[in-house]
Amino acid sequence: MAAQTARRIAPAKGTLGVLCVGLGAVATTFIAGVENVRRGAAKPIGSLTQMGTIRLGKRTEGRAPLIRDFVPLADLKDLVFGAWDPVPDDAYAAARHAGVLDRHEHLEPIADFLKGIKPMPAVFDQNYVKRLEGKNVKTGKNKRELAEALRKDIRDFKARHGCDRLVMVWCASTEIFISPGPTHASLDAFEKAMDANDPTIAPSMLYAYAALQEGIPFANGAPNLTCDFPAMEALAKSKGVAIGGKDFKTGQTMVKTVLAPMFKARMLGVAGWYSTNILGNRDGEVLDDPESFKTKEESKLGVLEYILQPQLYPELYGEMYHKVRINYYPPRGDNKEGWDNIDIFGWLGYPMQIKVDFLCRDSILAAPLVLDLALFFDLAQRAGLSGIQEWLSFYFKSPQVAPGLYPEHDLFIQQTKLKNTLRYLMGEEQITHLGIEYYQEA
Ligand SMILES: NC(=O)c1ccc[n+]([C@@H]2O[C@H](COP(=O)([O-])OP(=O)(O)OC[C@H]3O[C@@H](n4cnc5c(N)ncnc54)[C@H](O)[C@@H]3O)[C@@H](O)[C@H]2O)c1
Repeated sequence: MAAQTARRIAPAKGTLGVLCVGLGAVATTFIAGVENVRRGAAKPIGSLTQMGTIRLGKRTEGRAPLIRDFVPLADLKDLVFGAWDPVPDDAYAAARHAGVLDRHEHLEPIADFLKGIKPMPAVFDQNYVKRLEGKNVKTGKNKRELAEALRKDIRDFKARHGCDRLVMVWCASTEIFISPGPTHASLDAFEKAMDANDPTIAPSMLYAYAALQEGIPFANGAPNLTCDFPAMEALAKSKGVAIGGKDFKTGQTMVKTVLAPMFKARMLGVAGWYSTNILGNRDGEVLDDPESFKTKEESKLGVLEYILQPQLYPELYGEMYHKVRINYYPPRGDNKEGWDNIDIFGWLGYPMQIKVDFLCRDSILAAPLVLDLALFFDLAQRAGLSGIQEWLSFYFKSPQVAPGLYPEHDLFIQQTKLKNTLRYLMGEEQITHLGIEYYQEA
């Protein structure tokens, strides 16, 4: 396949402001992590933008630069951080509360830096996150006014920090389940619903709306509806802004989207897949509420259906029983344990089992994803890519896709899509893995 012309990409010069909605475990682990990396105190393990390479051209060419040397990404030294949270703790206190990073090794040496990041008052409503209470909250006569207050925060932050560009990443709690309805169908309906304080307009949607109105890319790390509906897609397109989500793909679902394609590739059947988790951080506490759990459950359940395609393989996957549980168990804190019991069957229907016990650290897995998303969304914006960024579905449990498309969940297809998009942006040849040219006679 012939190489094409590179896309025009504005240079990554100046300061990039990363605005986190929520200053909890994930956001503080991300921010403190970047600062430790910048000071040479730790390595950005888990971050594709910082550690990954990309093969270019034929296997015989030996070209495999670092991704960050290949595409013009913002440099870590140029990042500044802001956040909103209904809990008034600064980033140091919030990181201490989250208990993810070692206090003496990774927090005390950067305590002054973290204490300088104080959350702006949040747009928060307990009706959408039942298990949280917060005092650091904005007031306004309706939801439109709250969205306007967020827009002002964004402009003030930009001026205060001399930012050239901004990105926003939702790192806040999972809201209750909301189905897309008439208020989400068009921008006009959405704005009227903000004026009328309609309950189908959740706080997360106001952040997304504010970001898009200010021309700032928005990535959604939780499973909330947020920007996954026609009104937001239309706004993103009309403003020329990149959007994407939903729900960081970190632990159990990352594993699931690697194992399920393996079963399908070998035409092995799946009778049942039982997934359970114990988790003791604030996220676990929020997800203990059935309404927030339902939002998460939908996000976690979808992947198998799409990967295994029971409609194409009814004998292999038509009867599969899939169950996902999350149990709040405080002693473990952020150190989640995710178990999977998978009942599979092979030749002539003989049953077998696979057990996975992933003793993971939730925020350690999520933090590098926040970094990559911030840098890639900024790249997308500078490259003039607007609307849904499906090429970043690699990072999400429940990827947003264009209407009429089904999401691609297989982690390695997602990775191929991501890398081919980078090659496309830079005018390099796509890699199809055909490889017949290595065996053809001259
Ligand atoms: N850690 C992972 O592996 C992972 C994976 C996928 C998704 N997520 C999602 O990422 C989000 C963050 O996870 P966490 O472990 O940091 O949770 P956390 O509870 O530690 O932090 C969330 C923060 O968001 C704040 N918040 C809630 N509503 C808000 C609002 N309207 N505006 C501003 N701030 C608000 C909370 O006060 C809290 O400080 C959760 O929704 C979680 O489900 C995490």
